[in-house]
Amino acid sequence: MSRNKAVYPGSFDPLTNGHMDIIRRAAKLYEEVTVAVLVNTTKSGLFTFEERVELIENEIKDLPNVKVDSFVGLLVDYCKNNDIDVIIRGLRAISDYEYEMQIAQMNRTLNPEVETVFMMTNTKYSFLSSSIVKEVARFGGNIKEIVPALVQEKLKSKYRG
Ligand code: PNS
Repeated sequence: MSRNKAVYPGSFDPLTNGHMDIIRRAAKLYEEVTVAVLVNTTKSGLFTFEERVELIENEIKDLPNVKVDSFVGLLVDYCKNNDIDVIIRGLRAISDYEYEMQIAQMNRTLNPEVETVFMMTNTKYSFLSSSIVKEVARFGGNIKEIVPALVQEKLKSKYRG
């Protein structure tokens, strides 16, 4: 089986520079990378799914082999329906390990044909998460270095409102 298509799934609420670092590096390894935003029907975030997709779309314009999509339900089903056999996840600090292990093991149980590939996050972004970004933005902190400019702008207007 070929390994040309990969999916980079997540909540992306919102996209951070840490995510973008993984996306750019994954784009060099796979012919096609789909950034897939989970449409979580039980958990509402700060940004709507449409907004998350739009923010990602804006940042991947210069990456011709990267596209964005959203999915409902199981990730392995999304992979099967889209002929994807690699799931990419970023690993930050050791604290990510258990959570990521659970997801990867479950996905392997559900479909052993789909392989999870972990990419070590750039140390610059090791402790960066969407939750931390939101917290800092909420209290008016400087997030210039950790999120794309449009995300920064949208976060500001969310919290201003
Ligand atoms: O950015 P996140 O929230 O850590 O991403 C988690 C995500 C979206 C990759 C994971 O929750 C997921 O794939 N959810 C879809 C449902 C699913 O397939 N669950 C089984 C594996 S845990």
